[in-house]
Amino acid sequence: MRTTIGDCKLIDLPKISERRGAITPIYSGTHVPFDIARVYYLYDVPGGESRGGHAHKELQVLIVSVMGAFDVVLDDGEDRKRVRLDRGYYGLYIPAMIWRELENFSSGGICLVLASMPYDESDYIRDYDTFLKEKGR
Ligand code: TYD
Repeated sequence: MRTTIGDCKLIDLPKISERRGAITPIYSGTHVPFDIARVYYLYDVPGGESRGGHAHKELQVLIVSVMGAFDVVLDDGEDRKRVRLDRGYYGLYIPAMIWRELENFSSGGICLVLASMPYDESDYIRDYDTFLKEKGR
C-alpha cells in the first residue's frame, strides 16, 4: 500500500468545556474516517518503555492521549516524523502500512486507540525489514 506519513493526520475532536470539566464525544465515520470496530487503551506504561513497533496491513487507527502525553514516531519506509500527543481533544489518524512506535510516555499517561478492525495478529507486520520489503524499499 502506498500510504505515506503525509496521510497521517491530526484530527480535531469536539470539546465541550464547562466549569465542571470537559467532555469529548467521538462518532464513528464523523470524527474518525472509518467505522470503529474496536476500542482499547494503553496504560501503566513504565517510564522509558516504548510500545508499538509494528505496522498493519489493513488496520486504520485514531490515537488519542486522554491523559498525560507520549510521542508517536511514524515511518513510511522513506520518511520519519515524531508527533507528540498531549491533549484529549485531538487525535492522530494512522492509515494502514505505516510503521509506528509510541515513546516517552509521561507517568500516568493513557493512550486511547480507536481501531477499524477487531484484533487480528495476521494483520500485523512486526519485522521492520519485512515492512520495508512490503513498501518496495
Ligand atoms: P500490541 O498491539 O503488540 O501492543 P502495542 O502495539 O500497544 O505495543 O499487543 C500486545 C499484546 O496484546 C499482543 O500479545 C496482542 C494483545 N492484544 C490483544 O489481544 N487485543 C488487542 O486488541 C490488542 C491491541 C492487543
